[in-house]
Amino acid sequence: MNPLKFPKSFLWGAATSSHQVEGNMNNDWSEWEISEERKRYHEMKGNNPTQFISGLACDSFSKQADDLDCLRQLGVNAYRFSIEWSRVEPRRGEFDEAVLERYRMFIKNLRAQGIEPFVTLWHWPVPLWVRDQGGWKSAKTADLFDSFVAKVVETLGSEVKFWVTLNEPQVYTSNSFFVGVWPPQEKNLWTCVRVMKHLVRAHKLAYATIKNANADHQVGIASHNIHFSAKQPWIVNQLIAKVCVYFWNDWFLKQIRHHQDYIGLNYYFHRSFDLRFGKSGKHRLTSDLGWELHPDGIRSVLLGLKQFKKPVYILEHGLADKNDQHRMWYIRESLAAVRKAMDAGVDVRGYFHWSLLDNFEWAEGFTARFGLFEVDFRTCERKPRASVAAYREIIKSSRESAQS
Ligand code: FCB
Repeated sequence: MNPLKFPKSFLWGAATSSHQVEGNMNNDWSEWEISEERKRYHEMKGNNPTQFISGLACDSFSKQADDLDCLRQLGVNAYRFSIEWSRVEPRRGEFDEAVLERYRMFIKNLRAQGIEPFVTLWHWPVPLWVRDQGGWKSAKTADLFDSFVAKVVETLGSEVKFWVTLNEPQVYTSNSFFVGVWPPQEKNLWTCVRVMKHLVRAHKLAYATIKNANADHQVGIASHNIHFSAKQPWIVNQLIAKVCVYFWNDWFLKQIRHHQDYIGLNYYFHRSFDLRFGKSGKHRLTSDLGWELHPDGIRSVLLGLKQFKKPVYILEHGLADKNDQHRMWYIRESLAAVRKAMDAGVDVRGYFHWSLLDNFEWAEGFTARFGLFEVDFRTCERKPRASVAAYREIIKSSRESAQS
C-alpha cells in the first residue's frame, strides 16, 4: 500500500507570507530592518547588512503570474499567502482599493487554476500608524485589526472560504516582547502576557466578523506547536515537557476553543529535555539553520491536537536547505508520520509546504533557503529545485491511489 495515500479531498499546498515575498514593504519590520542600530548590529557580527533588509524580496506583488506558474508546476490545489495590512490600510481608515483589487485578481486566478486560497490576515508586521499607537501592546489594536478584517472580508469574501486570522501568536509574542530579538525588541514577561491577551481578543473579534459575513467561512489561526519530549522517563523532565505543552502548544488554542472552525498547525521543532547536561543535541541531523530534522515529531504534535475535535490543516512545515539535500526525504517521512496520525484518528485535511519560494526569513534575512523554488534575489527569477518534481509526484500518486 502507498504509505502516502491521502483522501481524495485532501488539500495539497505551499505557503508564503506577504512581508517575506512581496517586496517594497512599509511597516514596522521594514523600518526596523533599515535602522542604524540594526546596521551596526550586523556589522559587529561580520554580516553583510543588506542581506537582512527585505527590500524587493521575491517581488511577488508584481510577479503574481510567476508565483501562479510555480504553483501550476507543483500541481497543488491550495495556496496559503497573506494580505499585507500596511498595504491595504496605509493610513487609519484609508483603504487602498487598487491594492485590494490586485489581491482579488490574484485570488480569482488561483481559483481559475483550481487552487483553494487560504488567506492569512496577520503574519506579524503592522502598519506604521498601528505601531505608533502602541502596536499590539495597546488594547485598541484588536479593534483596529477588526476594522481591517471587515474591509478585507467585504472585498474578498465572495472568493475566499478559508481564513487564517493570526500566524503563530506564541512565536511573535515571545520573540518581540520576551526574548527581544524582533521589533520592538522588548524583554518583559508581563508585556508578553498582555500582548497574548490582546491577540486572543483580536482573533475572537475577527472570528465573529468573518462568520457574520458568511457562516460558511472557515476560520482558525496557525499555531506553532513543538514536539516536547522527555529524554529520560524521569518525573522532572516529563513535568517540564508537560508544562511547555500546556503553555506553548495549547494555551492560545484553548483560549479560542469556541471561536475556531479548524486548527492550523505549523510544525518545525522538536525539543527533548535531557537532564544529563552536556549530552543533548549530539549527532542530530539538522537543517541549514541548525533546526533538528525530526519528522516523526509531527505525529506527536498532531495527536496532541485531537483534544480539540476539529479538522486540522498543516499550514506550514519545511526546512532551510539550500542544496536540497534533505527536503525530499524529510517531506516523505513527515507525510508518512501525518498518515499515521490520521490512522490514529486525527482529522488532517491538508498539508502546506513552507515555502513555495526562497524568501526573507525574518531575522535570518536572505541567508535561509526554505523554497521549493530557488530564487535569484538579484533578478527575482524562480527556478525549481529537484524537490518540486518529488512533491508533485507525491501529490499525483496520492491522488491516483485515492481514485482506486
Ligand atoms: C515560521 C513562520 C514563517 C517562516 C517559517 C520558517 O515560524 O511562520 O513565516 O518564517 O517559520
